[in-house]
Amino acid sequence: MNEKKKKIVITYGTYDMLHIGHLNLLKRAKELGDYLIVGVTSEDYDRSRGKLNTSQSTKKRVKAIEKLDFVDKVIVEKHKGQKALDIQKYGVDIFAIGDDWVGKFDYLKEYCDVVYLPRTEGISSTMLRKEIQKKIKIGVIGTGRIAKRFVKEAGYVDDAEIRSVMSRNIKNVEKFIDGTKIQYGFDNIDSFLQDSIDAVYIASPHEHHFMQAKQALEAGRHVLCEKPIALESKHLKELIKLARKNNLILIEAIKTAFTPAFVQLQEEISNGAIGEIKEVRATFTKLIDDKDAREWQTPYGGATNELGSYPLLLAQKILGPAKKVVFYDQIENGVDLANRIICTHKNGAISISTVGIGAKSEGCAIISGTKGYIYIPAPWWLTRDFYIRYEDPTKQLSYHYDFQGDGIRYEISEFCTRIKRGKKKSSRLKWKDMVEINRIISKYNKRIKEKGN
Ligand code: CTP
Repeated sequence: MNEKKKKIVITYGTYDMLHIGHLNLLKRAKELGDYLIVGVTSEDYDRSRGKLNTSQSTKKRVKAIEKLDFVDKVIVEKHKGQKALDIQKYGVDIFAIGDDWVGKFDYLKEYCDVVYLPRTEGISSTMLRKEIQKKIKIGVIGTGRIAKRFVKEAGYVDDAEIRSVMSRNIKNVEKFIDGTKIQYGFDNIDSFLQDSIDAVYIASPHEHHFMQAKQALEAGRHVLCEKPIALESKHLKELIKLARKNNLILIEAIKTAFTPAFVQLQEEISNGAIGEIKEVRATFTKLIDDKDAREWQTPYGGATNELGSYPLLLAQKILGPAKKVVFYDQIENGVDLANRIICTHKNGAISISTVGIGAKSEGCAIISGTKGYIYIPAPWWLTRDFYIRYEDPTKQLSYHYDFQGDGIRYEISEFCTRIKRGKKKSSRLKWKDMVEINRIISKYNKRIKEKGN
């Protein structure tokens, strides 16, 4: 008997808050063939292509599609270039998508038929999100360069509204607010916390982070705090305890952890792309020439406090906690202008984290494994591209991700998403990650203090 081959159709989308427009499209797609595969975009992939405001998790969106009895298979779309691979893998005959994408997927005609289907007028996930949207009202502590950048980037996150600013110098507050949509300015933290904000972003000098985060958590506000979140390990542990007790979100603003490419990089490694990891090497230098700048002041300026969190994040995410830590620092007037932090980890793996504010170097990262290595070009901490390379130089895999602004919007998006979904922790930067990074920085602070005395 000659059995007719099933006609396979594939379509992709975010399908946030599944609506009638999606259902119509999916039914039309099914009618084109016998077997329908639906690709649901992952949260990180969406973020990498500028969709920062999806309200439902990947898991929830996948579940909603799985419930549709006319859908035969659901897959998750995780990266650019996956469509062509899926089409070949599943022997797809037709790629279907709404006609808002006309022409955009013609490149897939090399593999199968491409059909643009009529879109349902008058409805979209964006519209539905706007209807139910409750913005997260954020108060900012600090009026410096980083706080300004934060406010600008928050403009790209629909869920975030910057409501107020606090700094001890009211003139700075007035200047900061001028020309923005920020409604309120405060010169003391008590009044600032009494106002009806949901969350606080802390970008004050390092030595104030702990006390301000503590006060904010005690006042029932979620906290996103610049690095280092605390200068002593015991202080971070106290903050975590408080956040846990009050059911609040506490995230350290190490932005790299939230960039889509960085998340994908970890997935490649855990899938064994380069075998067992033997060494993680990362460098972050930023020349700060003005010796009167905060970064050059004792006791908590210096390269380690300023920049150490980034390479230590990479080491922690890839190799886990350090068993032994050695610092090779170069100190000028009590401040470390450069530091090389060498750690040994499980199974003898090593991490080498180099930071500098008074010496410039190439800001790349290399992760070496038993099968190959990953190269992340400078600036690796704003991860957008990475390359997997092997002994055979002709065999190289390249990964490219879109990256918008200076990356802070991904961290703000994650912070607001956690608050909205009532999920206390972020898997992208767990409390245990924060504790380990902080343990090493605190260890260094203790050593510097002892040296100074
Ligand atoms: N779609 C449709 N009619 C609508 C909305 C979406 O036919 N009113 C189709 C899209 O063309 C696409 C699929 O549904 O083929 C998934 O689209 P998605 O981007 O997830 O939905 P939107 O509602 O457009 O989402 P957003 O507003 O977030 O862009």
